[in-house]
Amino acid sequence: MIRVLQKLLKRVLSPAAFWRTKYCWWYIRVYTLRRFIAIFIQRPPAVSGPSSDFADKIRGVNTFATTEMCRVMTQFGSDKGRFNHNYTTIYSALFGSLRDQPLRIFELGIGTNNLNLASSMGAMGRPGASLRGWRALFPKAQVFGADIDRDILFADDGIRTFYCDQLDSNAIRDLWAQAAMEGGLDIIVDDGLHSFPGNASFLAGSLEQVRAGGVYIVEDITDGDLVEWRRALDGYVSKYSNFDFAIVQLPAPSNPGDNNLLMIRRRS
Ligand SMILES: C[S@@+](CC[C@H](N)C(=O)[O-])C[C@H]1O[C@@H](n2cnc3c(N)ncnc32)[C@H](O)[C@@H]1O
Repeated sequence: MIRVLQKLLKRVLSPAAFWRTKYCWWYIRVYTLRRFIAIFIQRPPAVSGPSSDFADKIRGVNTFATTEMCRVMTQFGSDKGRFNHNYTTIYSALFGSLRDQPLRIFELGIGTNNLNLASSMGAMGRPGASLRGWRALFPKAQVFGADIDRDILFADDGIRTFYCDQLDSNAIRDLWAQAAMEGGLDIIVDDGLHSFPGNASFLAGSLEQVRAGGVYIVEDITDGDLVEWRRALDGYVSKYSNFDFAIVQLPAPSNPGDNNLLMIRRRS
């Protein structure tokens, strides 16, 4: 019934009006309701990997409880804190106290509408949604993005974007060689091509860009790819001994099977 209604609204509304309607629906049905009933309902994530205070902190999050970060990301059209992905519940716990800091935040995957490209957001998607969300949440931050689709690169107040194909190690090297990237990043998010080879390729060329205390995140890992990450984890843990690794499965009954994160914190 809801899907039929969504299809109908997509046809009759402009993309902007469609998003406003979707946001209002979510705000009433999920955001407001959960803020109250989360006192009674606990949904902690399943966290695996080597033990660390980082993993313990993630384990302590109630992923049912919506946060301001969920609201702002959703308002900009990002899917990080909405129905199927509730990553912002965890991001709030990790980064919520840093919102007035001049962080350097990078997200791979700007959000193309081009249906011929892999991991497209579809015609109604809003390119740059998460980048704008990060900037609104962290007003002193410098926010960077990159994508394989050159047509959606843009610059805005506090936001700069670059070309990158995460399957191409030369393109990844060129990305980090940009003058703007000097000094490393506090948060790196891979929300680009959602495949194990793509994620592993970007991680190999990018993990060292994380500053001490910073966090690297791979979003939307499918349940299938999670098997690959589990198999590979020991190798990563011994190669990157100054990082804490956590594989995080968020419970979300409506999610089709990719509500999973790889989270990596640089200790030193
Ligand atoms: C799900 S969308 C990103 C959404 C965006 N992060 C947001 O939350 O607003 C995935 C993006 O990954 C990009 N992408 C696909 N393959 C890629 C590749 N090989 N390298 C870099 N980006 C890629 C697509 O063009 C698309 O824009």
